[in-house]
Amino acid sequence: MNDKTQEKIIELIGLTRVFEDGLVAVDNIDLYVRKGEFVTFLGPSGCGKTTTLRMIAGFDKPTSGQILLNGKDISALPPNKRPINTVFQRYALFPHLNVYDNVAFGLKLKRIPTKITDKSGKTKIKEVKLDKQEVAKKVEHALKMVDLEGFERRSVSTLSGGQQQRVAIARALVNEPEILLLDEPLGALDLKMRKDMQLELKEMHRKLGITFIYVTHDQEEALTMSDTIVVMKDGVIQQIGKPTDIYNEPKNSFVADFIGDSNIFSGTMTGNRKVRFIGKVFDCVDDFEKNEKVDVVVRPEDIFLMDEDKGQVKGVIISSIFKGVHYEMVMKVGKSEVVIQSTAQRQVGEKASIFIRPDDIHIMAKEFSDNKFEGYITKHNTVCFGDGEFECDVTQLYPGSFLDEEGYLITADGNKIDLTDTDVEVTVGLKDIEITDNAEEGGAVGNIVSIIYKGDHYQLIVRTDENEEDYVFDTEDTWNENDRVGVIIKKDKIRLALKQEVRR
Ligand SMILES: Nc1ncnc2c1ncn2[C@@H]1O[C@H](COP(=O)(O)OP(=O)(O)O)[C@@H](O)[C@H]1O
Ligand SMILES: [Mg+2]
Repeated sequence: MNDKTQEKIIELIGLTRVFEDGLVAVDNIDLYVRKGEFVTFLGPSGCGKTTTLRMIAGFDKPTSGQILLNGKDISALPPNKRPINTVFQRYALFPHLNVYDNVAFGLKLKRIPTKITDKSGKTKIKEVKLDKQEVAKKVEHALKMVDLEGFERRSVSTLSGGQQQRVAIARALVNEPEILLLDEPLGALDLKMRKDMQLELKEMHRKLGITFIYVTHDQEEALTMSDTIVVMKDGVIQQIGKPTDIYNEPKNSFVADFIGDSNIFSGTMTGNRKVRFIGKVFDCVDDFEKNEKVDVVVRPEDIFLMDEDKGQVKGVIISSIFKGVHYEMVMKVGKSEVVIQSTAQRQVGEKASIFIRPDDIHIMAKEFSDNKFEGYITKHNTVCFGDGEFECDVTQLYPGSFLDEEGYLITADGNKIDLTDTDVEVTVGLKDIEITDNAEEGGAVGNIVSIIYKGDHYQLIVRTDENEEDYVFDTEDTWNENDRVGVIIKKDKIRLALKQEVRR
């Protein structure tokens, strides 16, 4: 890379936008964009992409923080004084104007500060209009960039969606911006058209050599087009990197989940470069502390499917779908589901095994704040989870509900519900678990498998026998590893939610 490409054209420093209702749409963003770079903001709807772009363009003002353009703060510059143009998803062309006039529209209004020498020989700066030939030259050039030469006289209403979007891009390019902002510009196009336009935009970027800042919620689009991807969630940057970095080394489980179809398993480090997940210890290449709880990410295409006795872990194929190039299969391993991509199909019901190479196992530190379990309500309105059964308050599941004498739940609008076998998500805080020597007293029984000293308290893990469920909690008491204990959780400390439908 030469020096020019290393120059920062845009720099965001502590950029923050809090809306009047208190919503923090953009939360203290630090980021720079290099001259000529293709940078993409990627994240789910509502994560603050458009708000960030609008502040760069000057349509919205930061609550705090700075935007530097070529090293200078541009907060005071109105949008039309910034060398920046924006292309929106809805292209908002003038339907009554032809292609040429749509593209020329802004230029015709434009005034260029020009040095004028008057009759007495004095020079002064005057705002002058572009003359007709200059406008024509610029419009022709812009239309050429978007491959619409010869379309000048066509009415925009006769163009396809893709062609209309190209007119919109030409309209932005005709101002010769240093930076082009594109806010989901292909969002309104159908899949085929979108794919074509992705390639065309990439080519345009190469030819123009200007900086593109692109916004999308489509991870595939971001991966194909960008030099750099900025992954956002809730107004906060999660990761910045090249597409391959983001894909191969996601920084946290949000990024891993958002980019590509990943398997994310809960795991525990069992030793130096050894991690236990889906009931088996695997070699890996990341170093974490022993007994640390981690998220393990494995891409479906990195899992090799083999005959039952050949691989590391056995399971049964429970689904198999042809995806055009490969099959996507799900293998059930114990309670876990492993998504596998392979060109060779295995039938549903077939027993098989999998093999994963150490460097395809990506380990991420888990920020452990709560215990989460899947469970169900029993006919006695207790809850079963983590190989145990506990008293709980089922009325949490329906706000405003209560239990009648027979133990049926009556909802706020008077419906009577039998909760037996209802699937629930159970959350228990780190401070809400106690243990007892008298194992029978507990709702669940297990052994202490880990004691980590955390400065002023210990963090313990109790693991059950049957399904090896882990209870993680903080305590100030001293215990010994391998002690057999009962797990006690008070009724009001068990948080319940109805199980959400799994997205696939
Ligand atoms: N003018 C506004 N007033 C209040 N809230 C807003 C306004 N504009 C956007 N938001 C909120 O800010 C958040 C981020 O919005 P936006 O930047 O449009 O997200 P994205 O483009 O990533 O979908 C959303 O929760 C949205 O509802
Ligand atoms: Mg948006």
